[in-house]
Amino acid sequence: MTTAQEAMAGCAASESAAALELSGIVKSFDHVRAVDGTSWTVQQGDFVGLLGPNGAGKTTLISIIAGLVKGDSGQARVLGIDIAEEPNRVKGVLGVVPQDLAIYPELGARENLQFFGAMYGLRGQELKDRVADALRRVGLEDRAARPAVGKFSGGQKRRLNIAAALLHRPQVLILDEPTVGIDPQSRNYIFDTLRELNSEGMTIVYVTHYMQEVEALCRTVAIVDHGRIIEEGSLDGVLARHGTSLVRLTLHAEEQRRALALLEKHPGVTYRVTDDGVLQLSTRVLQDAVDLVTTILKDIAPNPETCQILPPSLETVFIGLTGNQLRDV
Ligand SMILES: Nc1ncnc2c1ncn2[C@@H]1O[C@H](COP(=O)(O)OP(=O)(O)OP(=O)(O)O)[C@@H](O)[C@H]1O
Ligand SMILES: [Mg+2]
Repeated sequence: MTTAQEAMAGCAASESAAALELSGIVKSFDHVRAVDGTSWTVQQGDFVGLLGPNGAGKTTLISIIAGLVKGDSGQARVLGIDIAEEPNRVKGVLGVVPQDLAIYPELGARENLQFFGAMYGLRGQELKDRVADALRRVGLEDRAARPAVGKFSGGQKRRLNIAAALLHRPQVLILDEPTVGIDPQSRNYIFDTLRELNSEGMTIVYVTHYMQEVEALCRTVAIVDHGRIIEEGSLDGVLARHGTSLVRLTLHAEEQRRALALLEKHPGVTYRVTDDGVLQLSTRVLQDAVDLVTTILKDIAPNPETCQILPPSLETVFIGLTGNQLRDV
């Protein structure tokens, strides 16, 4: 047997184990601590969003889970299988859709999938059936033979990239930013495919820096920043714990000083000045935020450089925890 065939055969993962169980994972590159002591558990059947800004360490973390990068320390198990001890068994139960497209541009879609399926030891009718099923899942049956996938649209390439990870019918699927640069139609197609796979029992870890995608798709979320998970739990739970309304105001120095003096008289409001000089207030009650900002605009700063009122969402959770807007950092 080849190692890939061993991986396919060795799929008897523990039914009661967590889908992912990470403990104390650390990975540094030169002076950058890309993953800084991550411990994280994902239950079987979950649809979880791993959300964090550029450079937060998301890809490094999943590269360690996929066995593509070796962590400096810590332990990772997929369905109870230790990735350091039995990497080939992990490959049999885990599908990874990489952030960078991993397809052969000069081949057609079916040829690409036949190639990847053969790498997993699939042959003959089984290979044909799995390729046909994967093409159907991502809506590429009509473009199976031609053109060569180098001529596909961005969305079609992304869908093929997903199909390649489904051929060995993994129990756990990790997707690293699978919708970057594609139109809303392709995005919705991918969302429907993932919902279908999850409803059939597949555990899905969806890596993204788009908060709206997590809100639309996922039941649970882990927010990662600077290589650490800074908050995790069910979407409802995270919003209930941190779901404040935020006001962000950029004011001139004198206006900011007067606004801060006003805020001192409102003990129910928490506020801070962020590193980039934005005055940020948070309140549990949206109306309180609206009232306060109305007063500031009327009495102190009629022409602020910027003024934003953000109702509770994952975005306000992230800003509240880190003081930064997700895409700015
Ligand atoms: N092979 C490498 N060599 C050196 N530094 C690296 C390497 N891979 C990642 N890094 C650094 O580790 C940090 C985390 O990078 P990583 O790609 O994991 O982030 P990310 O959260 O996936 O970001 P993005 O949203 O941009 O994909 C960054 O500072 C990055 O520059
Ligand atoms: Mg990445």
